[in-house]
Amino acid sequence: MQAARLPHPGPAPEAPQAQPKPEPLLELRAINKTFGAVAALSGLQANIAPGEFVTVVGPSGCGKSTLFNIVAGLEEPDAGGILRFEAKSCHAADLLGRVSFMPQRDLLFPWRNVVDNAILALEVEGMPRDQARAKALKMLPEFGLAGFEKQYPNQLSGGMRQRVALMRTFLFERDLMLLDEPFGALDALTRAMMQRWLLDVWQKYRRTILFITHDVDEAIFLGDRVLVMTARPGSVKLEQVVDLPRPRRPEIVTSPEFIRLKRTLLDAIEEESMKSFQSSIAQEKSQ
Ligand SMILES: Nc1ncnc2c1ncn2[C@@H]1O[C@H](COP(=O)(O)OP(=O)(O)OP(=O)(O)O)[C@@H](O)[C@H]1O
Ligand SMILES: [Mg+2]
Repeated sequence: MQAARLPHPGPAPEAPQAQPKPEPLLELRAINKTFGAVAALSGLQANIAPGEFVTVVGPSGCGKSTLFNIVAGLEEPDAGGILRFEAKSCHAADLLGRVSFMPQRDLLFPWRNVVDNAILALEVEGMPRDQARAKALKMLPEFGLAGFEKQYPNQLSGGMRQRVALMRTFLFERDLMLLDEPFGALDALTRAMMQRWLLDVWQKYRRTILFITHDVDEAIFLGDRVLVMTARPGSVKLEQVVDLPRPRRPEIVTSPEFIRLKRTLLDAIEEESMKSFQSSIAQEKSQ
């Protein structure tokens, strides 16, 4: 008896090529941080991919700056959390000097002029002052500071001071940049200009950026992802992917997709801001 012939299977259909996911540049697992009786962060988890632009929003006092202080290596989280940078476990202190950080307060030295404030981190790193100054002078026009190199912080507007601090952060070239409300003190027009400028620079240099803001439009306009934090103790409540094409044009803010994202984010933020507000009232009553 002849064995039934099985039909020839033909060439195997090509398996879809799984794109290997890049190792996160930064991994945070179960991060807690307490200051005495105040729990600032609790069980915070996040992964940041290389080259990603991640924006962070959340109620005032929920722990955003605390998170940045940890990633910048200025504060250690409580024991038990896991911090990994470039796929290696580390302590927060190991990250000091490995990420560039623009703190929420501009921290300019009043006795140093614009250029010398901008080169501070380069000098600390050991770059000769003349070389660092030459580098900074070239960058001044891009930051709208041309002609102001000899001015001192008390001779600058709030927005200009912020741009000097931003320039200092850019001059300190690191793969990961932490920007804590860098455009908070700018007027709406300058702010919009700086947002577009930042996107251009980011696309050119492909740094990884973590960016705190209170402005939901800004968070969507800039970000690949928006992390919404819970009320204190802060953790990540929502990770919203922003699937809007790049380069982003200013008019994108009126597109239906942008507005849909804004609605989702505002709902999440409002829920957390209410909790934060209620707990501050409860605290006042108990005192
Ligand atoms: N060094 C510190 N010592 C004591 N408490 C601190 C310290 N740093 C932060 N906190 C507390 O931790 C909580 C979170 O503060 P944090 O500055 O991280 O909030 P935030 O989300 O950045 O707020 P905002 O949006 O107003 O800048 C607050 O209750 C704050 O008082
Ligand atoms: Mg803050």
